[in-house]
Amino acid sequence: MKNYFSIQDIDSLKDWVEEAIEMKKNPLSDKTLGVDKTIGLLFFNPSLRTRLSTQKAALNLGMNVMVMNFTGEGWSLEYGDGTVMDQRNSEHVKEAAQVVSQYCDVLAIRAFAKLENREEDYSEKVLKNFMKYATIPVVNMESATGHPLQALTDAITITEHKKTDKPKVVLSWAPHPKALPQAVANSFVKMMQQMDAHFVITHPMGFELASEITKEVPIDYNQENAFKDADFIYVKNWSSYNDYGKTLPNDLSWKITEQKMNITNDAKFMHCLPVRRNVVVDDAVLDSENSIVIEQSNNRTYAAQLILKKILESK
Ligand code: CP
Repeated sequence: MKNYFSIQDIDSLKDWVEEAIEMKKNPLSDKTLGVDKTIGLLFFNPSLRTRLSTQKAALNLGMNVMVMNFTGEGWSLEYGDGTVMDQRNSEHVKEAAQVVSQYCDVLAIRAFAKLENREEDYSEKVLKNFMKYATIPVVNMESATGHPLQALTDAITITEHKKTDKPKVVLSWAPHPKALPQAVANSFVKMMQQMDAHFVITHPMGFELASEITKEVPIDYNQENAFKDADFIYVKNWSSYNDYGKTLPNDLSWKITEQKMNITNDAKFMHCLPVRRNVVVDDAVLDSENSIVIEQSNNRTYAAQLILKKILESK
């Protein structure tokens, strides 16, 4: 595998999920695979889980890890072709990507949507330019439109916890004080289309994701109706795709409560974290036995480790 940009780079989902679950039982089974190899992690945005789980995954494989917070510490990058660079940007991605490629064997990048210009965000300017100019594999640690490491994690977690071959999985929008990108929801939707699941999306009107991504997935604008018989409730806030960059009314009645969870088939509660307690979800749900968010976060290590293993094996 050259790059892990989206879940389309997974050639056999079922096999990869099984391999990650095996890896979790013995995380150091490939502890020499990455010896004398270096991964560079570039962050244009904050992180807790992605940063530490990807480092942990690399260390489990014997790799060296270098981390750089680009915002505030790196030179401000230019991406345009032929730009006269007489404004604020100091370095072109052409040089930056090639330079980093000399220091590292694998590069992983986090660069969120700015939520100002839909066309620019959905062009994936940062990740696509690094993939274009880097001479080493590039891993997406959450880009403007996708979070494929999170989606692989979610597939692992659902596989571990499902009680039937084809569980009902509901992706529910929930309120949030800030407008958030669609990346996690986009990748989760794509992942559920690959898995054997009865998959339903529920959100208030106006929060439709890109129809090229949701395709035929049923959308229920009635959250409580969608929750009926659910085996997994996956919760995430995202901002409007159609009214891009605008802050629509934040309907607090969409918060996840104990009463709503009681409508489900004893569903597991999932969230990628970080989560705003008592805005997105009540304490009573997040602290309940059915909440698997901490285990979900633990699985971030094995999703990342599997991806790095695939890259190292194909180098
Ligand atoms: N879920 C996730 O990506 O967490 P961080 O933003 O903390 O990395």
